[in-house]
Amino acid sequence: MPRDRRQGRVAVGLDVFVLTGAGISAESGLGTFRDADGVWTRHDLSLVATPEGFARDPARVRAFYNARRANLATAAPNAAHFALARLQSGLAARSGRLFLCTQNVDDLHEQAGCVEVVHMHGELSATRCHACQAVWPDRAPLVADSACPACGATGTARPHVVWFGETPLRMEAIADALEESDLFVAIGTSGSVYPAAGFVAEARALGIRACEINLQPSDNARAFDERRYGPATEVVPAWAAEVLAGL
Ligand code: APR
Repeated sequence: MPRDRRQGRVAVGLDVFVLTGAGISAESGLGTFRDADGVWTRHDLSLVATPEGFARDPARVRAFYNARRANLATAAPNAAHFALARLQSGLAARSGRLFLCTQNVDDLHEQAGCVEVVHMHGELSATRCHACQAVWPDRAPLVADSACPACGATGTARPHVVWFGETPLRMEAIADALEESDLFVAIGTSGSVYPAAGFVAEARALGIRACEINLQPSDNARAFDERRYGPATEVVPAWAAEVLAGL
């Protein structure tokens, strides 16, 4: 790794940047978006996942996210989530780091024991006031007349989820972590939504090795140095064990 990229690094040992997508939670019973039975084959995303959709029909948007909150309440982390938690603590014990950036709005990484998870597309288990931008933990159904605990406005509660046309969260921290990493790994993502889909090109431009783990080749599979295909619950634990064994 070029010396200037190492300056200010958090980790002295192996520094792994992992990007996860809906595929890692598929075997936990949470649907993906673009597979044959995916969420966007059943719902029009312009109606339920855009600021314009919320302005037009907030009740429809609340119902959509209330169903997703109910689904999450019945889900549990799977072997892939637990493998990443083991890898994170194993790397930390050897002065390394696993920086976990997820596009997922579920909290299954945290439930499995991962720490400092960066949710670039927000969190389903939180509500945001679209008047004052306050964010608070909330797993209950969203209702029309709830009052914001910070500013008291009513009817302004929305899920703390980044919609199409909105800017993903924590992008500066993500860029810094990507730049400092030794290895970039994308898990369970179709590589079709930017900016996350562009991380592999950014990593490669920095000379960072890139690995894809997915059920099948993603849209940008050819951009990766290494590809491993199969269900996340099988491939991720095997890959994580290899990384730990090699430390
Ligand atoms: N193991 C591994 N990968 C899987 C599994 C599995 N068991 N099941 C499905 N996959 C793969 C699919 O092959 C697909 O490539 O997971 C990927 C899921 O892709 P998408 O449904 O497009 O989900 P994601 O990439 O996370 O979507 C990105 O789009 O709508 C937005 O905000 C939403 O964060 C989401 C973003």
